[in-house]
Amino acid sequence: MTKIVYSSSQSSEKQQHHTTLFLVMMRLNLKYVLTSLILMVTCVTLMLWSRCGELVRTFPKRFYASHYQSMEAVEIDCVINQEYSIGCRREGDEVYLPFTFIKKYFEVYGSLNSIDGITHFDWNHSYGKVNLPRSIYDSKGIYMYFENYNVEVRDRVKCISASAGVPITTQWESQGYFYATQIAQFGLSHYSKNLTDPEPTRKVIEDGESNQSNWIIPKESSLTRNIAVNHTSIVNFTTYNQFDNGIYLDVDHVLDLLLSVDVFFRTNSSLTVTIQNRESQQIYYLHYVVADVSITVQDANIYHGIGMNAASRWKHLARDLFIDVQKGVVALYSNRKLKMRRSELKVIKIAFVGSGAFDNLTLSTSEHIQHFYDAAEWFVHHQNQSTGGWAIPVKRRLASGFEDLPRGWYSAMSQGHAISLLSRAFYHSGGNRKYLKAAVNALKPFKVASAQGGVLAKFMGILPWYEEYPTTPPSFVLNGFIYSLLGLYDLHQIAPKTKGGKEAGLLFDQGMDSLKKMLTIFDTGSGSVYDLRHFSLGIAPNIARWDYHVTHVNQLLLLATIDEDPIFSQTADRWRGYMMGKRAMHN
Ligand SMILES: *[C@@H]1O[C@H](CO)[C@@H](O)[C@H](O)[C@H]1NC(C)=O
Ligand SMILES: *[C@@H]1O[C@H](CO)[C@@H](O)[C@H](O)[C@H]1NC(C)=O
Ligand SMILES: *[C@@H]1O[C@H](CO)[C@@H](O)[C@H](O)[C@H]1NC(C)=O
Ligand SMILES: *[C@@H]1O[C@H](CO)[C@@H](O)[C@H](O)[C@H]1NC(C)=O
Ligand SMILES: *[C@@H]1O[C@H](CO)[C@@H](O)[C@H](O)[C@H]1NC(C)=O
Ligand SMILES: *[C@@H]1O[C@H](CO)[C@@H](O)[C@H](O)[C@H]1NC(C)=O
Ligand SMILES: *[C@@H]1O[C@H](CO)[C@@H](O)[C@H](O)[C@H]1NC(C)=O
Ligand SMILES: *[C@@H]1O[C@H](CO)[C@@H](O)[C@H](O)[C@H]1NC(C)=O
Repeated sequence: MTKIVYSSSQSSEKQQHHTTLFLVMMRLNLKYVLTSLILMVTCVTLMLWSRCGELVRTFPKRFYASHYQSMEAVEIDCVINQEYSIGCRREGDEVYLPFTFIKKYFEVYGSLNSIDGITHFDWNHSYGKVNLPRSIYDSKGIYMYFENYNVEVRDRVKCISASAGVPITTQWESQGYFYATQIAQFGLSHYSKNLTDPEPTRKVIEDGESNQSNWIIPKESSLTRNIAVNHTSIVNFTTYNQFDNGIYLDVDHVLDLLLSVDVFFRTNSSLTVTIQNRESQQIYYLHYVVADVSITVQDANIYHGIGMNAASRWKHLARDLFIDVQKGVVALYSNRKLKMRRSELKVIKIAFVGSGAFDNLTLSTSEHIQHFYDAAEWFVHHQNQSTGGWAIPVKRRLASGFEDLPRGWYSAMSQGHAISLLSRAFYHSGGNRKYLKAAVNALKPFKVASAQGGVLAKFMGILPWYEEYPTTPPSFVLNGFIYSLLGLYDLHQIAPKTKGGKEAGLLFDQGMDSLKKMLTIFDTGSGSVYDLRHFSLGIAPNIARWDYHVTHVNQLLLLATIDEDPIFSQTADRWRGYMMGKRAMHN
């Protein structure tokens, strides 16, 4: 606006020698008109400004847009820290840097997105989403926000063992092993989903009594319905031991892709479920066989072993057929990223081969509680009775400078997760003591120093800390420590009057005391650190990537619901600010 006034007075200077009264009058008039125009525009602007936020925001934008359109963009070199230069653009006094440069330089995120056909640019300082707690954390309820977890679809899950009903991981060793942390997350996610998902639909296909189906029985095969020892009806079958000669049932099930069944298999028996992809028409044969094999694939045949020790005894299977097909296809084409949707698959045939019996053959939309108990049973049966730990059977190197963790190490995070799961199993089962016993036994490593095979470290030789990775020297990983505290809290909440519950309470209190004193050591002023290796090893800090930073924030928000010390809510708020580019004040 000042420009307009300036140019009019400049032009008037050139015309000075022609000055007449008339022109002076004209000039005054022009000045008057311009001034009043400016005043009007200013008034309208001010009015809009104070009245309506919406208009105010669009008004200056339009102004700037037309302002810059009239200017020409020119290429200009930007010299970055006197180290190198990149091509930039200049428009008047403003300089524009390419976003690809800004993105890398500041590690920010951006994308062009449209809403209703209008494209805008989204700038995000971080990725990841904070999960605000819905209510006060309840040890009998949803575990954190694990209803959103889908452990079995993760790439590093090789398959769900048909023998144990829990995932096998390939995280640190490609042939696969049972990893307590992952198994607990699998169980806790299903426990949480049971509380948040819609009720499943269930169709009992055959139970030998009220639900029966018309099985097709080839020659020299037989199927009989009998009363077993426990007064329950079961179905006995005998067939030629060839796939084509099994007794079978044609079905047409979409979406009900959870198969559960009680089986009594001799070593020559198997169950085969035929699945079709409705889009590609591709057929898959899922075979559940009496063998010690996790998963093996031959063309369209996917084999899961239920374990040799399952021969000639009753065993309950709960299989997510979608996951079983998916893991089979991934195992076959090991490096192909698989895109398959649950809704694409349908069950078209179920067959039994060999000689054995079955009962309660069911297809349903989910079997969360079954998966949860499969995990709980795994913990009951795989705990080292003398140490109370679940050994992690692979060597682990956290970082150079730390001694390697040899095969068979314990993790406070695994122990804590397992305690959270077993406490819920104790509660959910109506007080089955085997779960409580295992949970209480799992406290032992919390009292044994890392160097002695436990998970206990001391910060500055004083403050107790439960180590996700019990390294020498200690690593003080924050998220794993907080997960372990949650386990102790859960056991204390669910069995407060028992000896074990009281002990868990004490371990929780001393851990919380350390956490309150040490929490801000993890604060960088613009983010958080994953561990305290910069302290233990005297090296550069290990900044938490946003995934872990968000986990820290979520954990602190949860702790703030069970402990009123403002350190949790205040730190959580500050750390949430870091995710939007806020920083702690500098001097
Ligand atoms: C930025 O955040 C928005 C909202 O969460 C999200 O929709 C968008 O995909 C994010 N963009 C990038 C590049 O991260
Ligand atoms: C949750 O589990 C209960 C048994 O404890 C069962 O009756 C219910 O149907 C399950 N609901 C879901 C959504 O899995
Ligand atoms: C299975 O039997 C139960 C009674 O035990 C009955 O309520 C249900 O409708 C039957 N389901 C089918 C699919 O026939
Ligand atoms: C019968 O009961 C016994 C003891 O509870 C159990 O071990 C067995 O698996 C049961 N059999 C059936 C067919 O349910
Ligand atoms: C049916 O199978 C069960 C379990 O294998 C077995 O104990 C029973 O003897 C069988 N009954 C018949 C009639 O074959
Ligand atoms: C399967 O095994 C059972 C007992 O182990 C045996 O009686 C039966 O003949 C076998 N069936 C075939 C087809 O081999
Ligand atoms: C089938 O389910 C019923 C009801 O839950 C149960 O009583 C029975 O023991 C089951 N059958 C077998 C063989 O486990
Ligand atoms: C239990 O742990 C102890 C101590 O590490 C070890 O000596 C023992 O072999 C373990 N027991 C089992 C069954 O793994």
